[in-house]
Amino acid sequence: MEYTLLSKEQLLEEKLLLDKKYEELKSKKLNLNMARGILAKEQLDLTQDMLSVLKTKEDCITEVGTDCRNYGLLDGIPGAKRLFSEILGIPSECLIIGGNSSLNLMYDTIARNMIFGVEEEGSTPWAAQGKIKFLCPSPGYDRHFSITAKMGMELIPVDMKEDGPDMDQIETLVENDESIKGIWCVPKYSNPTGVIFSDEVIRRFASLKPKAKDFRIFWDDAYTIHFLYNDLASQPCLLEEAKKYGNENMVYIFTSTSKISFPGSGVSVIASSKHNIEAIKKHMSVQTIGHDKLNQMRHVKFFGSKEGVIEQMKRHAEIIAPKFKLVDEIFERELSGLGIAKWSKPEGGYFISLDTMEGTAKRVYEMMCDLGVNLTPAGATFPYGKDPRDCNLRIAPTFPPLSELEQACEALCLCVKLAAIEKLA
Ligand SMILES: Cc1ncc(COP(=O)(O)O)c(C=O)c1O
Repeated sequence: MEYTLLSKEQLLEEKLLLDKKYEELKSKKLNLNMARGILAKEQLDLTQDMLSVLKTKEDCITEVGTDCRNYGLLDGIPGAKRLFSEILGIPSECLIIGGNSSLNLMYDTIARNMIFGVEEEGSTPWAAQGKIKFLCPSPGYDRHFSITAKMGMELIPVDMKEDGPDMDQIETLVENDESIKGIWCVPKYSNPTGVIFSDEVIRRFASLKPKAKDFRIFWDDAYTIHFLYNDLASQPCLLEEAKKYGNENMVYIFTSTSKISFPGSGVSVIASSKHNIEAIKKHMSVQTIGHDKLNQMRHVKFFGSKEGVIEQMKRHAEIIAPKFKLVDEIFERELSGLGIAKWSKPEGGYFISLDTMEGTAKRVYEMMCDLGVNLTPAGATFPYGKDPRDCNLRIAPTFPPLSELEQACEALCLCVKLAAIEKLA
């Protein structure tokens, strides 16, 4: 029965029952974590053998004769470029292999544009243009928003729809406001909604006509091959699409192996037009003599090709898909039909997005902390940590073992119900 249709007495009766369960759970002194999208131990074990693929000195020599134990090859070893080129469907010459973190590449790209301007000759640094703004499809990835907030930009939320961000809103904003310099996107199995941008949304991104000539799309393809059910969603390549409209310099694409091999010890990549990549390399050559080529070589030898990576992703999916299914089953059992929650059913990626009754997400988060269950803070999925409807929570089911996940989800459903009753009664 929908909570909104219950009388005050009925709601209070239900609350008594739920309060009792809450106190029982509290006495168990839980210590559970559904806060961040990290790999379970069994997933890390899948890649253990990568650490021993470089046994001899010959193993460290690239196909162009470069010794990975020494300096050289600023933009990455050929094998790593080939691997990412296959994964992203982008020519090797349009890629730079980075270090262990794509977020670091994103930060550097923003910082470079702030200090020096975009890759066009004579472009004015973003920092020298007064108040500038950045578009943030929300709910989205908190760490993206933090970068642009830290740089002092004004963050503008854009609604997320079922097929990607609201393109009508985006087109109107970027076509009319020269101070809007960019947008964050996670185009496939988005963080946290699991949304897969449709072909039409991608085409509209590719054909944007921004008023700011130095507008850039930050296309964070972090979950590009991270399917859960062995059926990888295919998408047009934004860089290829943008080329058709003469917009290839408007696009930066990022990804990494953080959730393929080892988070924090993987390999990252930035892709863009040939023109941009050449300009970025010039800057990078001042910043570093080169990234960790031994790690690139480990990845190349361990995975071999895109097919090798896909096989590994199947093994990851075998471990984490049951966790996503379990969360969905518990939500269905505990919350469906009550009119107080809806949630995403992702086909890939690392998150489930839960919308509680408006005005209750913060309260749910508080109650969960009180029970000893660590969640991503309410509001984190919106710019400045402020969810205007106070309803979104990001669930990260991959890390805890199934038994702990079950306990954490049951606790979560209890708190979602209690917070709704507190609001209604
Ligand atoms: C959308 C998105 N981008 C980037 C990252 C971080 O990637 P990296 O480890 O390559 O810095 C994450 C991690 O959760 C993410 O969800």
